[in-house]
Amino acid sequence: MTGTPVLVVGGAGYIGSHVTLELIACGHRVVVLDDLSTGRPDLVPAGASFVRGNIGDAGLVRRTLAEHGCASVMMFAGSIIVSESFQQPLPYWRNNMGAGFAFLDTCIGAGVRHFVYSSTAAVYGTPDRLPIPEDAALRPISPYGRSKLALEWALADACSCGGMRFAALRYFNVAGADAAGRSGQVSPVASHLIKIAVEAAAGKRAGLSIYGDDYPTPDGTCIRDYIHVSDLADAHVLALGHLERGGDSLIANCGYGRGFSVREVLDAVQRVAGRQFAIDIGPRRRGDPPALVADSSLLKQVLGWVPKRNDLDLIIGSALEWESRDP
Ligand code: UFG
Repeated sequence: MTGTPVLVVGGAGYIGSHVTLELIACGHRVVVLDDLSTGRPDLVPAGASFVRGNIGDAGLVRRTLAEHGCASVMMFAGSIIVSESFQQPLPYWRNNMGAGFAFLDTCIGAGVRHFVYSSTAAVYGTPDRLPIPEDAALRPISPYGRSKLALEWALADACSCGGMRFAALRYFNVAGADAAGRSGQVSPVASHLIKIAVEAAAGKRAGLSIYGDDYPTPDGTCIRDYIHVSDLADAHVLALGHLERGGDSLIANCGYGRGFSVREVLDAVQRVAGRQFAIDIGPRRRGDPPALVADSSLLKQVLGWVPKRNDLDLIIGSALEWESRDP
């Protein structure tokens, strides 16, 4: 099968590289555009073309789209750390909304037909009930969540007058690594729970803090819905296929629909790694809702998504393997 050419912006990063692997496996030609501000050139999958540059560079985006004949784009570039967004609100708005909007504008002008956007569970803020359906109230509680939602709305408005259709995939907590070891989570300064915990298990850090154990949850620590990055990658390829077949624009949650507390995750990491590390209790972290669990029925019903890696130990095992191999 020869799939269509796709421009993946942020394809040298964690999620973008996994989606690129899956697109190539499904026969698509992929061109990765990444400024390498957080991505790494060695994560760009073999078989993808690579262009170094910023999504806000309209001339470069236009040339790249034209040269590779791309009518479909996927957007992963952006700033993603909730707590950091309180310290640096304007850079978050600039990167996620400003540069994202410039990219969207360029894509519309260049006649792009399909736009797959990495949105986030942070658009919901603190939900009234679990699991969270897509039509739950949108009340983001961080600059990160607000900047991501703003671009989701701009995208929906841009697509409402025809020409382009979009899929906004609202990620819950993405973790794990490619089973073949071709990519995994990299970040100059780790902030996500499973990444930090596997670093501790691999002996790269002494231990970690639990950010608050006084939440209204069974063990007092926050609950999250952890999804394997390769299942998330599958959802992107399905979303693109849906749009390319003429399907309507859609917004879909990406999670498994079951939650684990921070303590449960740390117990699982220590068990799977066969190694203990130091854990202390710190204060709550700003912008953390007590519990986030996805209702992902829409993803299953509309896109036919079937999760293949819905197993916390498997997610952690793959993250551990990547961590132990990655210097
Ligand atoms: N946590 C700790 N100690 C750590 C790191 C994290 O206790 O060292 C806790 C956090 O406080 C939180 C949970 O582990 O309760 C998960 O935190 P992560 O940083 O791994 O992920 P977030 O829940 O902050 O981020 C995720 C997604 C975002 C989404 C956000 C919504 O990555 O896309 O949830 O809050 F927007």
